[in-house]
Amino acid sequence: MNLPALETGPNTRSADEGSPSLLTVPTPHVPAPDSLEREVLVRRVTVEADRVISIELVAADGRRLPPWTPGAHISLRLGSGLVREYSLCGDPDDREVYRIAVLDEPLGRGGSHELHDTAERGARLVIRGPRNHFPLVPAERYLFIAGGIGVTPILPMVRTVAAGAVDWSLLYGGRSLSSMAFVDDLMSICGSRLTLVAQDRMGLPDIVGFLSGADTATAVYCCGPTGLIEVVRQRCREAGILDSLHLERFGPAPQAAPVDAPTNTERAIDVELRRSGKRVTVPPGRSILHAVRDVLPWPSSCEEGYCGTCEARVLDGVPDHRDTILSEEERAQGDCMMICVSRARTPTLTLDL
Ligand code: FES
Repeated sequence: MNLPALETGPNTRSADEGSPSLLTVPTPHVPAPDSLEREVLVRRVTVEADRVISIELVAADGRRLPPWTPGAHISLRLGSGLVREYSLCGDPDDREVYRIAVLDEPLGRGGSHELHDTAERGARLVIRGPRNHFPLVPAERYLFIAGGIGVTPILPMVRTVAAGAVDWSLLYGGRSLSSMAFVDDLMSICGSRLTLVAQDRMGLPDIVGFLSGADTATAVYCCGPTGLIEVVRQRCREAGILDSLHLERFGPAPQAAPVDAPTNTERAIDVELRRSGKRVTVPPGRSILHAVRDVLPWPSSCEEGYCGTCEARVLDGVPDHRDTILSEEERAQGDCMMICVSRARTPTLTLDL
């Protein structure tokens, strides 16, 4: 998928605010998940690489778009009704336009292929968000690792850190140079801080070497396919810096909980949908999402806990989080959950639906 969605995680690390070498980053904007649906128009479509296009979106009503920070994504409802998540890869200071990049995956779940077929100037789409579960945290040093279309959330991040005074580097790998989007942009932003690895000529990227100098003052950001993420995660675990690792996935984590499959600790949940005045009972083995949809339409995309489309605000009760998006800090706050996979630690839950 094209997302750059979403296992985000861990780790919003607290940093030494007195250090002059820390990057100052804006507070991530995480708006209410259900209140931001809006119509947009396609302003421009650009071929960025083999099977990769970028799409610029402007508000259909001509207004400025909501603010966002690097790492944010939007949900896009396509003409067919499919909902897909895409990272924003433009300029956060430009409130007139959102830019996303889309890899055409003919064997994917259909969203990217539909966008490649139908996105043209003037086309009308519906978005929700932006939301950010992959925020840039303050750190003394940054190491960015991007694989393929996973470069999209990383691009605005390196723009931001390049404007500061911290140390940083980017390792960007892809199948071939012609398949890698935004190479020219990155070369001009990064200069010698960029390592490009076209695998058809250079083999696999040297993750171990790239991370060799990382310590607990380093924030490591990685977005890309599962194989890349697992190598990076393993290396960070061995180096004792797993808490410094921030991830965004294209697909479910290998250990992700199966959807609609009961565990031996599961019990029925009584779910109140406060705004609509409805109530549903969710039996073991059924997702909250599917039970909610018996009485109320609610969007979803991956239904495996990694994209964020089904996020719902929690008003009461304690969620049992089984997604791979929310950080430990977000989980501790307990005010939102991914209802496609997560359940409840309390017999009842109240959602803002
Ligand atoms: Fe993707 Fe729930 S997290 S639909």
